[in-house]
Amino acid sequence: MLRGDLADELGRMIVAAVDAAFSLEISVPEAVIRPALPERGADYQSNVAMPLAKRLSLPSREVAARILQHFDPGDIVEPPQIGGAGFINLTLRRDWLERQALALARDERLGAATADRRLRVVIDYSSPNAAKEMHAGHLRSTIIGDAIHRLLLFAGHEVIPENHLGDWGTPFGMLIEKLVEDGWSKSADRTIPDMNAFYREARARFESDPEFAERARRRVVALQSGDPETLELWGALVAESVRQLDDLYRLLGVLLRPEDICPESFYNPVLPQIVEELEAEGLAVPSEGALCIFVPGFTTREGDPLPLIVRKRDGGYTYVTTDLAAIRHRTRELGGNYLVYVVGAPQRLHFEMLFAAARMAGWLDQGARAEHVSFGSVLGPDGRMLRTRAGASIRLLDLVEEAIDRAASVVAERTELGDEERERVARAVGIGALKYADLSSDREKDYVFSWERMLAMDGNTAVYLQYANARIRSILRKAEAAGKAAKANAVILSAPAERALTLKLAQFPAAVQMATDHLQPHRLCTYLYETATAFSTFYETCSVLNAETPELRASRLLLCELASRTITAGLNLLGIEAPERL
Ligand code: ARG
Repeated sequence: MLRGDLADELGRMIVAAVDAAFSLEISVPEAVIRPALPERGADYQSNVAMPLAKRLSLPSREVAARILQHFDPGDIVEPPQIGGAGFINLTLRRDWLERQALALARDERLGAATADRRLRVVIDYSSPNAAKEMHAGHLRSTIIGDAIHRLLLFAGHEVIPENHLGDWGTPFGMLIEKLVEDGWSKSADRTIPDMNAFYREARARFESDPEFAERARRRVVALQSGDPETLELWGALVAESVRQLDDLYRLLGVLLRPEDICPESFYNPVLPQIVEELEAEGLAVPSEGALCIFVPGFTTREGDPLPLIVRKRDGGYTYVTTDLAAIRHRTRELGGNYLVYVVGAPQRLHFEMLFAAARMAGWLDQGARAEHVSFGSVLGPDGRMLRTRAGASIRLLDLVEEAIDRAASVVAERTELGDEERERVARAVGIGALKYADLSSDREKDYVFSWERMLAMDGNTAVYLQYANARIRSILRKAEAAGKAAKANAVILSAPAERALTLKLAQFPAAVQMATDHLQPHRLCTYLYETATAFSTFYETCSVLNAETPELRASRLLLCELASRTITAGLNLLGIEAPERL
């Protein structure tokens, strides 16, 4: 069986032919293998001849012809055709696809390869601020980060999740003062039912009462100097916040656990040393009372050098200092050689400068990669940032619960499911809808939040995929019940829709690899949607249970099973469940 990206294999075949024809070594990407345009009547096309024609000063059709003289199609493709200006049209052989489908059905990984080089990835995601309003951006980071976490694990990398919880800084002064004022410190029940509301109340007190504000400022000093009572309250507040976070993570079914939290305060003890090292290296220099790194190439709009402040005028450290300490920890202590940060687009400049500074400091060496996986905002129907009607940011737990409620009404009429199963399905559908809406569009772009769209039964939605899968499971159950589920020894591709579905199924490894290489889950979503659509067409045009012969029936059932496993595996890589019945 062929593992990994099919297009890469075809690329390697072209590379060999180019070498044989022109004694020219090109890379696989230079073989330019693309899905063929529909009018070509092929599966793939290679556009290699056009750029080569320029290099060789030959007509591109002639280049293509000479490549084909040396092209070995093996048992994979039909003898290729040249089209248009010199496109090489590649069509997979029917018998090869038949064998490949059979092999895929027997393969646990559905043909997906593992990475050539196993990396130790440290992925920073979710990373909300304790006791502060968690906003839709944190939900995006959690969902996108979790999908990427799963994709990297599936590729065989070692993945260390880090939840860089913001648990330190001046807001804690006012929050702790508010706790004291509320008598929380002495109460037995140390829960905070609505963290966002609590934060807003503390903020309001801070802004309206100068005496409170003064106490809050003193509280910050007490916190920084390690006053025991203050530390105790701070710890309890953070613990309550973590408990609520954990509830949310569990409900969402994300992989993050409390032990993955490595909060900002963890780095406090090493911050003086970080700054000292930077100073000793001459990287951090005094500027207007603060200590700054000036990273070459970064300037303000006016063209002045742009500082990264690592120690403020008042002696306090910053978000940057902590992030530098975190990089050093992740490369030195954790041994990470691939650092991934799933954080919203507004922090792009922060990460660009941070990575550059860390490289200058030698904490991120040449062999290590660092990537800011940036994403856009979630917009409301009015095209502005998603908020409640009252203008407050939305409590994420409310959002998730509403998703489940809405999904419950979608599945309400499925009375054949028992109450318990219906509840489970509603959860899978609701949470799936929420996640998929976030994952299915290019993450760099903003997207408009719409319950109707995310729960639509048709279109590129989770429920469409879940439904397609449940329908396949039901076909398979029927076959079983009718005693018609004999194992196939061969796949028979007689009808075009059957072949089209099989080609899609054979492209699962490519889709997964693409999503993983570019850290772009939406590529996998697009693929899954196309696969479910191909299944639909197949099922409309090919009878399965009443196929003409037992062999054909067994073959089609095998394709059904393979399609279901592919959709299920794909959804699971996105952190979405695929219920057996829906
Ligand atoms: N807590 C930050 C925020 O809410 C995000 C932290 C991202 N991770 C990091 N290492 N800077 O904006």
